[in-house]
Amino acid sequence: MRSIKQIKDLKGKIVIVRVDFNVPIKNGEVEDDFRIRAALPTINFLLEGGAKLILVTHLGKDGTESLDPVIKYFFAISKIAKDKVTFFENIRKFPGEINNDQAFTKELSLKGDIYVNDAFSVSHREHASVVLLPKFLPSYAGFQLSREVENLSRTFQSPAHPFLFILGGAKFSTKMPLIQKYLELADYVFIGGALANDFLKARGYEVGKSLVDDTNYGIEKILNNKKLILPVDVLVKSGDKLVNKNVSNVGKDEIILDIGSKSIENLGEIIKKSKLILWNGPLGKYEDGGDQSTRKILKLVADSNTESIIGGGDTVELISEEKMEDKFSFVSTGGGATLDFLANGSLPGIKALE
Ligand code: 3PG
Repeated sequence: MRSIKQIKDLKGKIVIVRVDFNVPIKNGEVEDDFRIRAALPTINFLLEGGAKLILVTHLGKDGTESLDPVIKYFFAISKIAKDKVTFFENIRKFPGEINNDQAFTKELSLKGDIYVNDAFSVSHREHASVVLLPKFLPSYAGFQLSREVENLSRTFQSPAHPFLFILGGAKFSTKMPLIQKYLELADYVFIGGALANDFLKARGYEVGKSLVDDTNYGIEKILNNKKLILPVDVLVKSGDKLVNKNVSNVGKDEIILDIGSKSIENLGEIIKKSKLILWNGPLGKYEDGGDQSTRKILKLVADSNTESIIGGGDTVELISEEKMEDKFSFVSTGGGATLDFLANGSLPGIKALE
C-alpha cells in the first residue's frame, strides 16, 4: 500500500478521505469516539500539508441515519476549522455505494484530486467508496489503516510464542476459518462467548436454552485438537438467579451467560505464560449481565505486560468503558473487518490500494 507520506504535494489539493465514523449514537450524542479519534492523525497530516478534505463515512446499516451528531462531535474534539473539512452525506444513502456502481463512483471522484482510505473497519465491504473510488484517483492508505495491517499481520507472520488466541462472541459459522487458522498458528486457542456453547454441545454437554449456531460447519474435525481450550464452568441464568456451574451441570431451562470463575482462573494462568495474546469478541453475553469475565480478563491481559492485540466492536466498547485503550499493544477499530483480515490476510479495500 502507498502511504500518505508518499503524496508529493498536498498544497491546494482536495483529498477525499474514506473514514469509518460508524460509531454508536445514543439520544443524539456520540457514545464512543474511538473510531473518530483513530482517524485524526491522518486528517491532521493532510491538513498540515495544505489540503482541504472531504470526509466520507457511513452511519448505520441503511443510510437513513443523520450524520449531524458525528459532524458536531468531530469539529468539537478536533478543533479543526470548518472551512478545511466538509462531510459528504451518509454514503449508504446512495444505492450506488452498496452496488459498487461505476457512474456513481465517477461522479464522486470528480469532487477531489486524491483518495485516502483510513477506514480499516469497513474495508471488508466491496462498496464504491472502499474498492472502486481508489481506481478513479491517485490512492493512498491513511495511518490508521497502515497501523491495523502492521499490527494484525504480526499474528500470522512469525508470531511470538507461547501465543494465545482468545475468541468469543457468536456466529460460529463465520468464525470457523479463523479457528482453524489459529489452531495452526497459536499454542492455545481459548473459546468463550456463545461460540463455546457450540463446542460444549458438540462434546455432548447440555446447554439448555443458550444461544447456539445449529449450522454444521465441521466442528467435530477440531473438537479433539489439543490446543483447543473450552470453559470448564459457566455462569448460567437459572430462573431469575445467576449461578456458577460446572459445564456438566447445566439444566434444560438454563441459559449460559458467561464463562465461570474456574475458567477465568485457568485462562489467567495461560495469560501469565504467553508472549503474544490475540483476542477477538466478548467471553459472555455481556448485554445481559455476562460481562464480568471479559472485564476481568481485560485487566489480566493489561497487567500481564504481554504483547496484546485486541479487536471486535463489542470488546472495544468494554475497553472504552473501562478507559483501558492505552493498556494494550494494539486495539483494532474493526469488527467484521478484523475477523476477515485475520482469516484471509487482506481485505478488498486494502487490495484496491495496491
Ligand atoms: C462496522 O461497524 O463494523 C463497520 O462500520 C462496517 O459496518 P457494516 O457492518 O454496516 O458494513
